[in-house]
Amino acid sequence: MRVYLDNAATTAMDDRVVEAMIPYMKEHYGNPSSVHSHGRQVRSAIEKARKKVAELLNASPAEIFFTSGGTEADNTAIVCGIETHGITHAITSPIEHHAVLHTLEECAKKGKVSLSLVEVNSQGEINLDHLQELLKQNPKSMVSLMHANNEIGNINDLNTMGNLVKEYEGFFHSDTVQTMGHYVHDLKNLPVDSVVAGGHKFHGPKGSGFLYVRKDKKIHPFIYGGAQERNMRGGTENVIGIVGIAKALELAYEDMSGHQSHIEGLKKYFIGLLKNDIPGIEFNGLSEHLDKSLYTVLNVSLPPSEENRGMLLFNLDLHGISASGGSACSSGATVGSHVLRALNHDYERESVRFSFSRFNTKEEIDFTVEKLKELYGVVV
Ligand SMILES: Cc1ncc(COP(=O)(O)O)c(C=O)c1O
Repeated sequence: MRVYLDNAATTAMDDRVVEAMIPYMKEHYGNPSSVHSHGRQVRSAIEKARKKVAELLNASPAEIFFTSGGTEADNTAIVCGIETHGITHAITSPIEHHAVLHTLEECAKKGKVSLSLVEVNSQGEINLDHLQELLKQNPKSMVSLMHANNEIGNINDLNTMGNLVKEYEGFFHSDTVQTMGHYVHDLKNLPVDSVVAGGHKFHGPKGSGFLYVRKDKKIHPFIYGGAQERNMRGGTENVIGIVGIAKALELAYEDMSGHQSHIEGLKKYFIGLLKNDIPGIEFNGLSEHLDKSLYTVLNVSLPPSEENRGMLLFNLDLHGISASGGSACSSGATVGSHVLRALNHDYERESVRFSFSRFNTKEEIDFTVEKLKELYGVVV
């Protein structure tokens, strides 16, 4: 048996998404910028996808821009939001994804903004009083705080954070990569200026994504070239990816509560077994709390063990389980998680992020717990 519990890194594509994409790899190959019928047909597929995404998120099609993924969308919102709106100060947290953190650090290094980090406690909760203090000292800031953390699963309240940013006339960007397709986003009624998505996190294709920017907070383009994406992103569109991400989002919304109850059931079951079977087990961040964390993520902290020191992910892999230590690293190397570091994590313990999808089963959870028991020498 091989078990895939790394769905926060990426998910398997839904067959129905693949089916929707195939015609755009075969018969519909026109360039969407061409005015002839081959082109027009493909242009119409892109605009249909944009309309679908906008409809699902209660946004206007003019507010949706397709990108190559979450990283590009984060970069666009942050870099161009700062430039367009003449912003000189930015606020983020030390546990953001590197798509946000490294982008803002680069902006600070280039002297475009000064950067403040809002405090988080040992559970990864944002200190909202500190956020308010920072905003009071620096009104009109670019504030980038994620909806949910990809490593520890903590969910932040977009309403509370967004209203605070609004009060101090800031620009509020939220990295919603881990919640898009898993939770409902009613963008007309959320106090956010921009949010993002990566299609591969909800059974869509890799290399697909989109950026939402509120109508009254327009920003300059990040990539210059042709007039694609209404002059916001030059370059021939990833038509296949665009068709795929829209289909994936449509499927996600079609039965979101069904998916949630299945996945949340698995997470709850997993927590119960782990607490019962592995002495000294703990959970990082708020991931144990079903009402405060992503139903797709459980970050487990295992007691010190000589046999598994620095080797747990490797050992799990050998036993047929794919999980992760944090965000997937492009080199494949295991580098310490900046998120766990910010939480003053005890490095004697081993941490594993297990993340689930609608394709996981109870049997896979049983199998994983059995393997953990073996690795931790729990007498079966
Ligand atoms: C919170 C968060 N932001 C951004 C990204 C980057 O998204 P993409 O892989 O689509 O570029 C990820 C992916 O791991 C993520 O989890």
